[in-house]
Amino acid sequence: MSTARTFAFRFLQVFRGGPEDEGEYVEYSVPVEEGMVVLDALHWIQAHEAPDLAVRWNCKAAKCGSCGAEVNGRPTLTCKTRLSDLPAGEPIRVEPMRTFPLIRDLVADVSWNYDVNRRIQPFTPPEDAPEEAWRWQQEDIERVQEFRKCIECFLCQDVCHVLRNHETKDPFMGPRFLVRVAGLELHPMDRADRRRDLKDDGGIGYCNITKCCTEVCPEHIKITDNAIIPLKERVADAYYDPVQAFWRRVAESGAAKPPPRDDG
Ligand code: SF4
Ligand code: SF4
Ligand code: FES
Repeated sequence: MSTARTFAFRFLQVFRGGPEDEGEYVEYSVPVEEGMVVLDALHWIQAHEAPDLAVRWNCKAAKCGSCGAEVNGRPTLTCKTRLSDLPAGEPIRVEPMRTFPLIRDLVADVSWNYDVNRRIQPFTPPEDAPEEAWRWQQEDIERVQEFRKCIECFLCQDVCHVLRNHETKDPFMGPRFLVRVAGLELHPMDRADRRRDLKDDGGIGYCNITKCCTEVCPEHIKITDNAIIPLKERVADAYYDPVQAFWRRVAESGAAKPPPRDDG
């Protein structure tokens, strides 16, 4: 027997529509049980009021990254957002992630992100490293593991004003992929150099460190402090420090090798 108790109704204003129309917010009254999250309410609406409501989800455990949407204007996982944490007595507005093209209702087309991901130079370890070289300090492991916690929900991409402004979207890879590059660049066994890609294709200079991405990350990755700022420093060292810039030009001309990178 269920011990959950129905104690109130909440009004949800849910975006309904597709790319071919302007869409509208449709209000639904949903009976609320203790512990309900926004995704539960959307499932109730699907089951009782609107079986054609398009919602993307999978794990309902905040781990697959599928259920991202904007709740009261804030990008969030609907499976992790409790109704009781939203202001009482006010309707709850639910809409799709607005940075990406709309497919239908609450489902956005995030495929642009996969194209960006494919352009990143993959992990490049040395071919002939002895086995002991793969044993590293716990501190180095933890630094990389933080970035590996990403569940690719794209909430950080959704909130980022650079991507939200569609004119600057294509030249900027966005915080999720700066996190991925940081996980590669700060890996002790990686030998690739992605600094030119970060500057040119990745558009890291567009980021003005507003930290909005860090605030919405459900995995609490310190995106700006631990990923973006160290990458910006590397790019600045390589391209805007006159000594390093000289050595880079010499290296690119094939005349000599630059001094080793200081990965400190
Ligand atoms: S800190 Fe940079 S990447 Fe993050 S939301 Fe702001 S501009 Fe975008
Ligand atoms: S960095 Fe955080 S907010 Fe961005 S996609 Fe990964 S888990 Fe989501
Ligand atoms: S359904 Fe998997 S993260 Fe929400």
